[in-house]
Amino acid sequence: MSAILPPAERLWWKHPLDRVEGTWIVIALVWCLVMFAMMVGWHIWGKQNLSTETYKTTPDQYLQKAQAVVDKYTVRTETEGKIPVVAPPPGADVYLVARLWSFWPIIELEKGKTYRLHLTSMDYNHGFSLQPANINIQIVPGYEHVVTVTPNQSGTYSVVCNEYCGIGHHQMVGRVYVK
Ligand code: CUA
Repeated sequence: MSAILPPAERLWWKHPLDRVEGTWIVIALVWCLVMFAMMVGWHIWGKQNLSTETYKTTPDQYLQKAQAVVDKYTVRTETEGKIPVVAPPPGADVYLVARLWSFWPIIELEKGKTYRLHLTSMDYNHGFSLQPANINIQIVPGYEHVVTVTPNQSGTYSVVCNEYCGIGHHQMVGRVYVK
């Protein structure tokens, strides 16, 4: 029997299962179960897959809350686009708005302090990839994701969109400062 000729018996599923084939099916099944258990394990022991709270929202509702926080805690603006740099007090809610093709505003946090970071998208699916910490979260329109974060290292972090979102995807970057 060869792979390029049709099988002698047309109803191939009536052939008895070969031992090698059976072994591979068992190996694949066991590995699937290990991976399935790891999804839970990574949430407990992993540092990249954060557990998030998720609420339904609309772009208008979310923008109102984000604007209120920006109005209250903006400390300066940066770049030609005059992007506000928002430095909320420890424990506060911080809002990040993702849209084609930018993140708004710039966020400034204090090391060792805990914040509630809210994320949503105004239009399509975007990604929140915090580099070089390598934290990854999906940003889904219509849903407000809340991540409780405690930055443990100071520095300048880049927020990169890691979900392909069209022609400007590669330009969709944001910034987080940790002091
Ligand atoms: Cu937003 Cu890619």
